[in-house]
Amino acid sequence: MKYFLWSTIFILLIGTFIFFLMKDMFVTEELFYDDDQEGLNEQIVIRFSHVVAENTPKGLAAQQFAEIMNEKSAGRVRVEVFPNGALFSDSEEFTALLSNDIQMIAPSFSKMTDIAPEWELFDLPFLFDHLKDVEEAFTGNIGQQLLAMLDDRGVKGLSLWSNGFKQMTSYQKPLVEPNDFANQRFRIMPSRIIDKQFTLLNANPVIIPFNDVYYSLETFEVDGQENTISNIYSRRWYELQRYMTISNHGFLGYTVVMNEDFWNGLPDDIQTQLNEAMAETTKWILQEAEQMNNKMLIEIERDSEMEIYYLTNEEKEVWKEKLQPVYDMFLQDANRELVELVEKLKN
Ligand code: SIN
Repeated sequence: MKYFLWSTIFILLIGTFIFFLMKDMFVTEELFYDDDQEGLNEQIVIRFSHVVAENTPKGLAAQQFAEIMNEKSAGRVRVEVFPNGALFSDSEEFTALLSNDIQMIAPSFSKMTDIAPEWELFDLPFLFDHLKDVEEAFTGNIGQQLLAMLDDRGVKGLSLWSNGFKQMTSYQKPLVEPNDFANQRFRIMPSRIIDKQFTLLNANPVIIPFNDVYYSLETFEVDGQENTISNIYSRRWYELQRYMTISNHGFLGYTVVMNEDFWNGLPDDIQTQLNEAMAETTKWILQEAEQMNNKMLIEIERDSEMEIYYLTNEEKEVWKEKLQPVYDMFLQDANRELVELVEKLKN
């Protein structure tokens, strides 16, 4: 009897032990589904890298594009946005795009000129006087022509986004007349046109990646720079500069591009949704960017010690005359038709 009892206990213990060991083989765990998770295995992930802060026109547009696309595709596409150059700096992002480490970027026009020199058009000083002309150029014939030039160069051009007019800043002195630029060092983006612009002003242009600008201003590697208010504000460069001239002398915009092979591999319906999401976002950024820059200028005026000067129309004419040779250089390369298209818009 005792033997029987101990055997039963022993068998029960072994049974319990085996049950716990094997329970995962028999029990199906309940999975929690929500809309985003359905079809997770087939989800298309688009990594979108850019270098500016999140609270800038481009930063917000990238985020907005991701949300619209997620909604439109009911979670089939997930756009992951990496701001602030967190993955790649502006000098690295193009190579990363071509090798498909990331699938989308939105570099400034200047940074496109290596693969498509015609994009230098938008670096020409005083090309635009009004933002409505910019909008027409970006969404019309000019934008389409420039995007088409990217075909077969490894990237698919999706859209042109706008940030706004560029302003000049300096630590050394107020920038009112062309002579004021003499012998100062200015940070520039990699662009033959911008380089020429500062050379004509007898200044020394220095190419510096966007994420290094704060340090280069802080350490006086350069004396000044040109950029939009949203970049000057969100990167706190205004704390390091003593003078700013509201000159609206140049325009900063972005070419939104995707890796071409990646694009070609996408199903037709996803390509259509991406184009729709891009059109919505482009409309949004064209409307919002100006307001954001205006608001941030008010903040700078309120919070910083920087002296701000508004260039008069007469003073602008003097700058224009001084910078005219930049146009001559651009036109030498058979780009006359593009400039004429812009001139037509303005009339
Ligand atoms: C950007 O707005 O993407 C950066 C522009 C710059 O390099 O100054």
